[in-house]
Amino acid sequence: MKNKIVISLLISCSIFQAGAQTKIDPKTIADKMHWFEDAKLGIFIHAGIYSVNGIDESWSFHNKKISYTDYMKQLKGFTLSKYNPAAWADLIKESGAKYAVITTKHHDGVAMYDTHQNKLSIVKATPANRDMVKPLFEELRKRDIKCGAYFSLIDWSYPDYPGFLKDSSRYVLQHDYDRWDRFRTFLHGQIAEINNMFKPDLWWFDGDWEHTAEEWEAEKIRYIITSKNPNAIINGRLQGYGDYNTPEQNFPVTRPPYRWWELCMTINDNWGYQPQDQNWKTPYEIISIFADVVSNGGNLLLDIGPKEDGTIPDEEVNVLKELGAWNKKNSEAIFNTVAGLPQGHFYGPTTLSKDSTTLYLFLPGKISGPVMIKGLDNKVEEASVVGDGTTLTTKVVGKISWSAVPGLVYIDVPDKVQDKYMTVLKLKLDKKIKLYRGQGGL
Ligand code: GLC
Repeated sequence: MKNKIVISLLISCSIFQAGAQTKIDPKTIADKMHWFEDAKLGIFIHAGIYSVNGIDESWSFHNKKISYTDYMKQLKGFTLSKYNPAAWADLIKESGAKYAVITTKHHDGVAMYDTHQNKLSIVKATPANRDMVKPLFEELRKRDIKCGAYFSLIDWSYPDYPGFLKDSSRYVLQHDYDRWDRFRTFLHGQIAEINNMFKPDLWWFDGDWEHTAEEWEAEKIRYIITSKNPNAIINGRLQGYGDYNTPEQNFPVTRPPYRWWELCMTINDNWGYQPQDQNWKTPYEIISIFADVVSNGGNLLLDIGPKEDGTIPDEEVNVLKELGAWNKKNSEAIFNTVAGLPQGHFYGPTTLSKDSTTLYLFLPGKISGPVMIKGLDNKVEEASVVGDGTTLTTKVVGKISWSAVPGLVYIDVPDKVQDKYMTVLKLKLDKKIKLYRGQGGL
């Protein structure tokens, strides 16, 4: 709705550190992205005081659905009385996710950690009286899960931030640079403290659309992070200074042209906890969306919205567990694979082993007849069902001896080997995959 992502693949060519003009080797970017491109699944956590009333995170006061005063009254109801970071980390691990990203501060300006830059935090201003981020990162790291910090550049509560309600702002930046500078000192201060306190493996900025790269000093923000924490990955919402692209909610139909991208998506229709929103995606829908993302070379950042007491809604727990069981069974077809076949060869998602000698086929829904692959210029040495091991017979039809065009490969998938959500087939090929992409004929 509001984000124009200007991702800079430029970044992989040259980033200049603020002031120092030191060129960063593009290989550094590719090196640090390794864990991210193998991760495939992350869990997004929108935790905030908006879960008290169950209303839109920050936007509810900005869009005047509720007054700012009433919005802030939620501070008094945020308790985290049942917050169990170890249990959260267990659930995230069980889902199969390799990283998690939690809101350290949303556009409402309420820090979810012990900020020293102002007093607006759940530590100082709510009955919770504790930092959410630190114990979660500790538990995640014990389980080898990478830790991401969502951070809103926008801070509609800070008195020196120009923006406030949708139709009014406090001042015009161009008329009061000193005031903007005070905000920027605060902003950079928070970024530096999060970077020092938690050393996020990944920074997930949001809200960059309200100002330009020059106004945020995006280059300096990148430098603040990477000078201390050179391996930190930065998402693409930093006005051209991030490492990867973040389509939001909307599923790409054709394969995105970026090397690194991540679809962030909610399980119902909202980021935060909203009890009236019962439009839950089913485990099958999430699994098929996830398979499609991976098939197209991306990651899925799947969101959960915990309640004010720190518990996670049952429907979200269920989706994460079902997804986790499916991931466990099919792990070899997902993790450490690369994007699969281009469109046209198979009616469903696919992935490839990194050496391109194994092809995985994801079968959407129940299959009542054989599946078919077109244009595969390889011999299938063995076809089997992932997580089950049953070998299947393959049949090649339409191979004309004098033509270079490969035949069609048909594989029968009996009912008894089919997964309740999505069956995955493994095709061991005779050599690196070779595809025929022509129009038939000779
Ligand atoms: C949007 C919204 C925000 C949400 C984010 C997650 O940018 O402003 O409320 O946190 O998307 O991607």
